[in-house]
Amino acid sequence: MEAKKAIASRYSVRAYKKDQIAEEKLETILAAGSAAPVGMGRYDSLHVTVIQDEEIRKRISEGIRQIFNTESDALYGGSTLVLVSSKEEVPAPGIDYTNAACVAENMMLAGADIGIGSVLVWGIALAVEADKSLKEALSIPEGFKAMIGTVFGYAANAEQKEKDLKVKIQMNRI
Ligand SMILES: Cc1cc2nc3c(=O)[nH]c(=O)nc-3n(C[C@H](O)[C@H](O)[C@H](O)COP(=O)(O)O)c2cc1C
Repeated sequence: MEAKKAIASRYSVRAYKKDQIAEEKLETILAAGSAAPVGMGRYDSLHVTVIQDEEIRKRISEGIRQIFNTESDALYGGSTLVLVSSKEEVPAPGIDYTNAACVAENMMLAGADIGIGSVLVWGIALAVEADKSLKEALSIPEGFKAMIGTVFGYAANAEQKEKDLKVKIQMNRI
């Protein structure tokens, strides 16, 4: 699939099949994350955690429920979570989130390319940061902060139609 098609095919999947994603597909997604642009090439300032343990997944879902006071599974039944963390000390403000977002988007586009749905869920990182024992259980290295969590899995519903690639974010040209 060409890049344009992967971009047009990616959408936020909010219902997943129970099946775990195939290992080779996960490897492709993770490798795509590591190919993302990262400020000053400091790949060592990032850490990626793959979460497939059902108990941990439940703790994260429960943590999000508590933070946002909601009932439903904020992870939409997705079987694999990928959490990008960053060193807390970075050379310039905002680089941590920017790096993590580049990695997350590369992974989600790679997923779209190979038939794996995804959604970025803001509460994942919040839930991890809010619970010290959960963060420890995830073995996130000392000095790193959870930044962006994504859910991956097979979409439960039929594929959405590809997006029209047209400008919709407000902009100006000078
Ligand atoms: C920073 C950020 C936070 C998001 N948080 C959530 C979230 O917590 N839950 C969710 O279902 N979707 C979340 N999304 C997905 C957006 O709602 C979605 O990308 C947007 O509505 C566009 O739809 P699309 O991804 O289907 O193109 C988030 C996206 C971003 C970039």
